[in-house]
Amino acid sequence: MQEQLQKMKEEGLNAIYAAADEKALDALRVKYLGKKGELTGILKQMGKLSAEERPVMGQIANEVRAALENAIGDCQKKLKKAAMDAKLKAEVIDVTMPGKRRSIGKVHPNTAVMNIAKEIFLGMGFDVVDGPEVEYDYYNFEALNIPKDHPARDSQDTFFVSENIVLRSQTSSVQARVMEKSTPPLRIISPGRVYRSDAIDATHSPLFHQIEGLVVDKGVTMADLKGTLETFFQKLYGEEAKLRFRPHHFPFTEPSAEVAVSCFNCHGAGCRVCKGEGWIELLGCGMVHPDVLRTCGIDPEVYSGFAFGLGLERISMRHFGISDMRLLYENDLRFLSQF
Ligand code: DAH
Repeated sequence: MQEQLQKMKEEGLNAIYAAADEKALDALRVKYLGKKGELTGILKQMGKLSAEERPVMGQIANEVRAALENAIGDCQKKLKKAAMDAKLKAEVIDVTMPGKRRSIGKVHPNTAVMNIAKEIFLGMGFDVVDGPEVEYDYYNFEALNIPKDHPARDSQDTFFVSENIVLRSQTSSVQARVMEKSTPPLRIISPGRVYRSDAIDATHSPLFHQIEGLVVDKGVTMADLKGTLETFFQKLYGEEAKLRFRPHHFPFTEPSAEVAVSCFNCHGAGCRVCKGEGWIELLGCGMVHPDVLRTCGIDPEVYSGFAFGLGLERISMRHFGISDMRLLYENDLRFLSQF
């Protein structure tokens, strides 16, 4: 029996030190030391031994068990370390390698200018409201004093979805919606996309953006309109920006005006940017027509208001020195990543 134990110890130790990985090692532990393992098998013969032999054999068996257990523990540590070393080696980071460049998105020039404009108007106490781009003919035209046969419709080549539904050709549609469902005082801007069936060129696009403004309250005058727009453009272009108001006609305002701002490049002297005029046309505005107020449920005897609509693209193009409007819509990253 002693020989059996010695033999098992030798074989066991050899096998343990030769184990290739932790799994093999565990199998060996089961094979030699497990409940049904070889050691147990040998110990079953203890019954046949004499009373003197038994404790001696028991001691040897314990030594063999301890030797195998130690060897297994030893090998386990070694295999673990080897596995960790291999892993670390495989995952080593070469800090001298060039990094991967991450491209970070930029705000589109139109969005950037829209955000600036919104901030200025918010600072002046305006609320920002949204309106649908697919709009009823009623809000886009009729409520604004532009009935079906009105010639003003010709100046806005409109996309019709059906007889009474259009892609809005002006953000003025939001004016009618706001007045219809709220009571003055009102002070809102409504920025957004508008659509016209224009051929694409350097200054035209079938989709562009406007910012509509509307103020309705008791005692609102043309002076308030001028003051509001002057404040806006001075915040946008600096204190020296001057506005020029010229009489114009819009069906939904009376009186109406067309507003130009002094060229920020030459300050009025005339240059390439303003085509020698010294002024840049930017928006239409006026006092809300009493008929429009009435149609939208506001009593023109009590309230008055002003409205304006400015084109965003012109402002973005001036702001960033962009000479062709198409660039704003082509989504060419070489262009967009400059801003
Ligand atoms: N909606 C007009 C346009 O697209 C611009 C405009 C003019 C808006 C006068 C207004 C306004 O609110 O009062 O040409």
